[in-house]
Amino acid sequence: MGIKSLGYMGFSVSDVPAWRSFLTEKVGLMEVVGSDENALYRMDSRSWRIAVERGEADDLAFAGYEVANPLALKLITERLREAGVQVRTGDTELAEKRGVMELVSFEDPFGMPLEIYYGATELFEQPFVSGTGVTGFLTGDQGAGHYFYAVPNIEEGLAFYTGILGFQMSDVIDIAMGPDITVRGYFLHCNGRHHTMAIAEAPLPKRVHHFLLQALTLDDVGHAYDRIDGLGDKSTDSNLRVPANSDIRSSRITATIGRHVNDHMISFYAETPSGFELEFGWGARDVDDRSWVMTRHKRTAMWGHKSMRNK
Ligand SMILES: [Fe+2]
Repeated sequence: MGIKSLGYMGFSVSDVPAWRSFLTEKVGLMEVVGSDENALYRMDSRSWRIAVERGEADDLAFAGYEVANPLALKLITERLREAGVQVRTGDTELAEKRGVMELVSFEDPFGMPLEIYYGATELFEQPFVSGTGVTGFLTGDQGAGHYFYAVPNIEEGLAFYTGILGFQMSDVIDIAMGPDITVRGYFLHCNGRHHTMAIAEAPLPKRVHHFLLQALTLDDVGHAYDRIDGLGDKSTDSNLRVPANSDIRSSRITATIGRHVNDHMISFYAETPSGFELEFGWGARDVDDRSWVMTRHKRTAMWGHKSMRNK
């Protein structure tokens, strides 16, 4: 009866038009509402999955988690209140804005705004169509994607997300963030997606290091890389020539295509207009709670994912 999936993400950004161009022309999402103050984007049959709102944070501003029905929302609300969390209920205006039947909102121990809801708006009669030709995104039971979340206190974070919200631990990776700093990342799931959230006590300037969207084909990943790498059009695709219109400075790629050791995602990373990153991937393995046991890893990548920062 707990959380089923990450339903939506909202970002507070200083440059909404730059995000619009990034999400529609590069990533391949479908814009449904757009103004210089806020915009909503679709990636599947849902009426929206990504919200972009004008603000100064340039960070993840809220995340919405989905439960099955009114009883599930009631039970999780009671669990939060028993744990001493202040939960706001009955905000019909916000529910209307989110296109859901009912929601509750609260903050995690670090002030991150969270919402839990049921009754999202489905638009099967208006299919998702990407202007870039992206085949589609893997959502459904696995939700919108995942995000890598930096917190100041990992024990408190794990107690909240696993102890109260019911996430299960998939595995850990000891991530070398520099010559003298290794941070343990905890990868948490709430459905078959290997992780809906990775959480770490990491010294990052934003709440999120990145968020992930998972496409339906490997070619979707390659085409997205081509759109973002700043190396120009396909008439210059010979590896024997340097493209005349090459402008590597326009590249937003931050890590080359690679495969992660834990979820087996083949992906690359790119800088969003807000500085934090997008992971665009395909091919992750699922977790099954009947047989899954957690493991530990000493690297993030089997191969690839080489840093392009400061290149
Ligand atoms: Fe990721």
